Amino acid sequence: MKIDPIAQEMNAVIKSGNPHLMEMLSKTGRRLYFPKSILAQTAEARQKAYDKFNATIGIATADRHTLHLPSVMAYIKDIRPSDALTYAPPPGIFSLRQIWKEAMYEKNPSLKGKSVSLPVVTNGITHGLSVFSDMFMDPDDVLIFPDKMWGNNYLIMSVREDARISHYPMFSPDRGFNLAGLEAAVRQEAKNNYKVIVFLNFPNNPTGYTVTENEGDEIVDILTKVAEEGTNIIAVTDDAYFGLCYEDIPLKESLFARMCDRHSRLLAVKLDGVTGELFAWGIRVGFITYGTVIKGDHAAFYDALERKTAGNIRGSVSSASHIGQSIVLNALKSPGIQKEMTEKKEVLRKRAMRVKEVAAGSEYQDAWEMYPFNSGYFVCLRLKTVKAEALRVHLLDRYKVGTISVGERDLRIAFSTIDEENIEELFEFISKAVKDLNEG
Ligand SMILES: Cc1ncc(COP(=O)(O)O)c(C=O)c1O
Repeated sequence: MKIDPIAQEMNAVIKSGNPHLMEMLSKTGRRLYFPKSILAQTAEARQKAYDKFNATIGIATADRHTLHLPSVMAYIKDIRPSDALTYAPPPGIFSLRQIWKEAMYEKNPSLKGKSVSLPVVTNGITHGLSVFSDMFMDPDDVLIFPDKMWGNNYLIMSVREDARISHYPMFSPDRGFNLAGLEAAVRQEAKNNYKVIVFLNFPNNPTGYTVTENEGDEIVDILTKVAEEGTNIIAVTDDAYFGLCYEDIPLKESLFARMCDRHSRLLAVKLDGVTGELFAWGIRVGFITYGTVIKGDHAAFYDALERKTAGNIRGSVSSASHIGQSIVLNALKSPGIQKEMTEKKEVLRKRAMRVKEVAAGSEYQDAWEMYPFNSGYFVCLRLKTVKAEALRVHLLDRYKVGTISVGERDLRIAFSTIDEENIEELFEFISKAVKDLNEG
């Protein structure tokens, strides 16, 4: 297919900033552009046309205010119709993108002095994953995940994009992160591919594990080394549960902050959002941010990448929810939000500590082993004597306990939804159910 002249311009900017990016973008990614037409014409009309004759935008107004139904606005108290009902710009509300970026620097001290793109707003992190996949994956491209991963990645990347997922065991025998396994998988794939995409998700779904500072640094070193040796590496951090670390040991910042300036063949992509960070799952506001080594004009390079991303959004969901973005923007400015977040995190921390204590009890050691966990929403049990799906069904039918079976032997428990006082009983039920199945 012919590449539009605007896309050609963007590709030239990207290529002069970092030629390896052109090898990393998918065919779709290279074709993508953000059409100037409607926005440019609207902007021109705003300057030159009478307000009462500005007939450019596809919404409805009356007396220059957003036309709205009181029955709709009755449920939206403190946000104006123009900030709730009209379309948000495809890359997201500009001030929200700026505020999220500023907060990213505060939350990730290693970002200090480094340049990254402005975050582009996605419809939650799931959509961020899918936007990323459209832009950077072609059929048969290889993706590297640990064997413990969020299952929806299969739908997004294998089913929709026809990419190939390669796994390595997430934990080493000493119950740390399997650095040797990651390195072996990346090196193996680097032999046969000019581009390797590596996914890093901490706190992890389903295990609730976050790497230590040292493990984090080693991961970055491994990926940088392979990039130096000539393979293009795209490292994607899925930070869905960012900030929910309950102990001193886990890394407190995103690996994105340590990877975004390491090598021109290493592109770091950060996916995050209000889902886990603001306890606002259904608002559907996520962000995608890029960082790499660039020659020359950083702003122009990132602008081109952001515009391609916006073009993808315009061509799929048009834009993420405007009301959702306005809620988030207001919430982030509200003086109490940090304290509220700390309080909620403390609720989860107490539960996590209780889960660790209860699930590791000696009475359960024949039934399961808990995978290492120190963060996030989940704990995952490796079942020693029964199959996970049989246990899940039995737990539900007999004890009215809902869990998720993952693969053949793993049971995922979202302790994020279990009040502290019910945790002990929950594990008693799981243990009873295991015994029932063992006794046949
Ligand atoms: C690892 C991981 N990534 C992404 C998501 C999706 O987040 P969102 O609701 O923002 O699409 C989830 C949610 O379950 C998740 O566990």
